Amino acid sequence: MKAIEISSYGAPEVLRACVRPDPVAGVGEALIRVAASGVNRPDVLQRTGNYPVPPGASDLPGLECAGIVEAGDTEALAAAGLKVGDAVCALVAGGAYAELCVAPVGQLLPVPKGWSLQDAATLPETFFTVWSNVFERGRLQPGETLLVQGGTSGIGVTAIQLAKAWGATVIVTAGSDDKCRACLDLGADHAINYKTEDFAERVKALTDGRGADVILDMVAGSYVAREIACLADDGRLVIIAVQGGVKSEFNAGQVLRRRLTLTGSTLRPRPVAFKAAIAQALRAQVWPMLEQGRVQAVVHSRFAALAAGDGYDNGAARAHALMESGSHVGKIVLDWTAA
Ligand SMILES: NC(=O)c1ccc[n+]([C@@H]2O[C@H](COP(=O)([O-])OP(=O)(O)OC[C@H]3O[C@@H](n4cnc5c(N)ncnc54)[C@H](OP(=O)(O)O)[C@@H]3O)[C@@H](O)[C@H]2O)c1
Repeated sequence: MKAIEISSYGAPEVLRACVRPDPVAGVGEALIRVAASGVNRPDVLQRTGNYPVPPGASDLPGLECAGIVEAGDTEALAAAGLKVGDAVCALVAGGAYAELCVAPVGQLLPVPKGWSLQDAATLPETFFTVWSNVFERGRLQPGETLLVQGGTSGIGVTAIQLAKAWGATVIVTAGSDDKCRACLDLGADHAINYKTEDFAERVKALTDGRGADVILDMVAGSYVAREIACLADDGRLVIIAVQGGVKSEFNAGQVLRRRLTLTGSTLRPRPVAFKAAIAQALRAQVWPMLEQGRVQAVVHSRFAALAAGDGYDNGAARAHALMESGSHVGKIVLDWTAA
């Protein structure tokens, strides 16, 4: 099969087209003929040598794809209500930048009715992450207020839409007025330009001094103290990335006096059973929203996976350069149908 590999750690051009042996599905697994794969920030971290591949995972990048089940464990597929020939999207621990990808059957979901494979490829990584962190760890309830740091990220556009569909009030931060507008267009109630405004003060003002019930944080570092300052009593801070640094100094007295919860998680190394449980929750609670059009794919760009352009010799390198430019709103997709 054709694939994109990380030839060495470095800039986007280290992503190279290659030919690898076709992967084989084992017990409890399915082989997918990939139509599209989603690009996520963790892929960039992996490419630069800052996100090690979990034991047993493919060294090829790519955490999500959509395509057609070509082969696999037919019993496991039947138990999941799936079969060879079905259109699915899948969360994987690696290997999605390829024409063929193996996924645990528990991590497959049917392509929502009315959705294309190209759009379905944008679902798994951010929907599993947001579900697990905002709704399970963060326990967001209808009527509560969610603050999303990085509202136009792939994670952010998912969190905005899901939390709004859930009946929450959503405040976001973004790094430009244009990005703030994009978040409002997606349904966010309030958007704060974190480069020109103090988000903690604004969140307090927007909530009449009460604060946010849940904060989804991908920055950490110096943000943690300010997030604690703008969390409501009994609020939950959920850290999913440390773009602002791993060290934070904050007032621990606030945590106990106001009964705050500080938590976080990283999805990729979690066991298949954990991810399969999220898949079931998504299918029951979120897939109907996707099929009703209440939550939509937000695709900024799509690149033919193996096509050269912009000075790069394949679409994956172009996609990574775009992601690193930070100019995207929503998801970036690699199209393997033109490969
Ligand atoms: N823990 C997990 O399981 C898990 C899973 C998936 C992703 N992640 C993490 O989640 C983050 C988003 O992933 P993605 O694929 O959606 O990436 P992405 O689209 O590249 O988004 C990165 C976002 O970070 C925002 N950001 C950077 N510095 C910020 C700051 N100081 N204040 C507010 N926002 C800031 C950017 O906002 P502006 O462009 O507006 O500056 C941008 O929206 C990444 O850090 C990724 O590693 C974690």
